[in-house]
Amino acid sequence: MTGIPGVGKTTVLNELQELAKQNKFSLTVVNFGTIMNRIMRELGKDMHRDDMRQQNIETQKKAQELAASEIANHATEGTTIVDTHMFVRTGSGLWAGLPQTVLQRLSPRLLVLVEADPEHIAVRRRTDTDRKREQALAEEIKFDLEWSRATAAASAIATGSPVKVIRNDTGKQKQAALELFQTIRNVMEG
Ligand code: AP5
Repeated sequence: MTGIPGVGKTTVLNELQELAKQNKFSLTVVNFGTIMNRIMRELGKDMHRDDMRQQNIETQKKAQELAASEIANHATEGTTIVDTHMFVRTGSGLWAGLPQTVLQRLSPRLLVLVEADPEHIAVRRRTDTDRKREQALAEEIKFDLEWSRATAAASAIATGSPVKVIRNDTGKQKQAALELFQTIRNVMEG
């Protein structure tokens, strides 16, 4: 499950977990950034989660691969959803969140792209005061949405998995979660 910062991945996933509970559907959500942040701390680099992307690429890559292995090794019965990013805006440029090394470990059956209007994402970032998000113009956000799609296409070819685009329009997070839930059931139950 991917989407650019502030698009509302976590919000939709919270709704999805409610739906799964109501339907007695076994579902676990793991946040890639949270695991990476803990691994960096264990490697002696204790920092806010929003500062990780400014570290040098080798440091991020090491934590990224360890996080992917941990998620793969701990996946339990039922469906595991990984809350993550198609790419990360690092100090060194646009860097894949799901390079080949990560995709091989995670072996996803479905790739999800969460999207919303650029203007709405800009507002959500501004109002999310507990995060250190880059404030971007709608034009820059539009570029990031397009880059995510391009990266998703490359990941789809590498994995052979379908890509589902989910709209998370303002006030419509429950609708987005329902569409996601139906897609997951389709993929997992056939
Ligand atoms: P992470 O914590 O995933 O960063 P993020 O995307 O910036 O943060 P969120 O997950 O909080 O954003 P969100 O899209 O879930 O939005 P939210 O639901 O909060 O990752 C942190 C870091 O980890 C990354 O920067 C990177 O360094 C690293 N990382 C992660 N994966 C990696 C990988 N694979 N490889 C390398 N590094 C990786 O919503 C935002 C706001 O919008 C909220 O206020 C919410 O209430 C509002 N909102 C949401 N939906 C709606 C709606 N439908 N209507 C109205 N308001 C809405």
